[in-house]
Amino acid sequence: MEFITPSIAYVGVDDENIDLFESQYRVPNGMAYNSYILFDEKIAVMDTVDKRGTQAWLANVAGALDGRQPDYLVIHHMEPDHAGSIRDLLRRYPQITLVGNAKTFTMLAQFNEDLNVPAGQMLTVGEGDTLSLGSHTLTFFLAPMVHWPEAMVSFEQREGVLFSADAFGKFGVRGADEDWTCEARRYYFNIVGKYGVQVQALLKKLAGASVNVICPLHGPILTENLGFYIGKYQLWSSYQPEDEGVTIACASIHGNTMHAARVLADILMKKGAKKVSLFDLSRDDMAEAVEDAFRYEKLVLAAASYDAGVFPPMDDFLHHLAAKNYQNRTVAYVQNGTWGPTAAKTMKAVVDTMKNITQVEPVVTIRSSLKQADIPALEALADAILA
Ligand code: FEO
Repeated sequence: MEFITPSIAYVGVDDENIDLFESQYRVPNGMAYNSYILFDEKIAVMDTVDKRGTQAWLANVAGALDGRQPDYLVIHHMEPDHAGSIRDLLRRYPQITLVGNAKTFTMLAQFNEDLNVPAGQMLTVGEGDTLSLGSHTLTFFLAPMVHWPEAMVSFEQREGVLFSADAFGKFGVRGADEDWTCEARRYYFNIVGKYGVQVQALLKKLAGASVNVICPLHGPILTENLGFYIGKYQLWSSYQPEDEGVTIACASIHGNTMHAARVLADILMKKGAKKVSLFDLSRDDMAEAVEDAFRYEKLVLAAASYDAGVFPPMDDFLHHLAAKNYQNRTVAYVQNGTWGPTAAKTMKAVVDTMKNITQVEPVVTIRSSLKQADIPALEALADAILA
């Protein structure tokens, strides 16, 4: 059994076989569903796991409890990747008291029509409420829309442990040999990105807490250099760019628009761009394209015209950006059209709905394929982007 602190055991599970997290995100290094047990005079289990890991998790819980009975299950988040095994825990430990807020219990009933938990075994907590376990006390902070309305976090004051729900999580199993920032950023912008204001509100609430350890529901437990992780969340939730560079997102049907995008990428690098991140929206990971659009300060949308609009992978990408409140960036356009080009107008109509976007003029239009005569226009566009 792994102890995070003398009183807190880790009982979560790694899911190495999942194909798509939330049925949309590629997770080449799997996914961790974290769960913890806090031992004191009273014993509290912190969250359950996705039903994909129920049996392994129950074995971890039983091993950690070593014959003791848990008093509480704290439900920080009702999304099924964490609440998917509540029914199984209740079956195994029928006397356990569930701890959640009013919205938690509404959702619990919605997900489990025939689950009849006695009223006396549902403890409703609200903002700032505390739960004493003996020498440890949990304080609850509501975290609406980080990432669902019922989400909450809890802070254990004695050891300075923050149970942060989805916040500070990442894709990948807990021990994945990969950079935290990259997969935490991809996770953040795609899953929580829409709710920057709510993330800022949560960070503000927690500003006075003396946090030594962050226990998220996904990814590694954070024990050192916490200012780094909190700083990343401050930055990401403020919608400000993180790094200098240009993302080129390209939707190409037969490769001609992609060729133009590659040529533009070369020109940008030659002209001194710090970084150019190029995506083929038909083939590359959409979530990573979204991540890099937020990471870098500048974005080029390069797309073929299609059905008097834009090639659908670009529509899809722009929809993702708009849904995640994309803002405060510079956007430039390259369109391709064999007859009436319509891509740029369609893309601009979506970008026009976003806040504080500087749109670079003029749009570069290529006809069917990039020609030598088009290069000066790409050079001029690169100058305008880097200006
Ligand atoms: Fe990891 Fe919003 O659930």
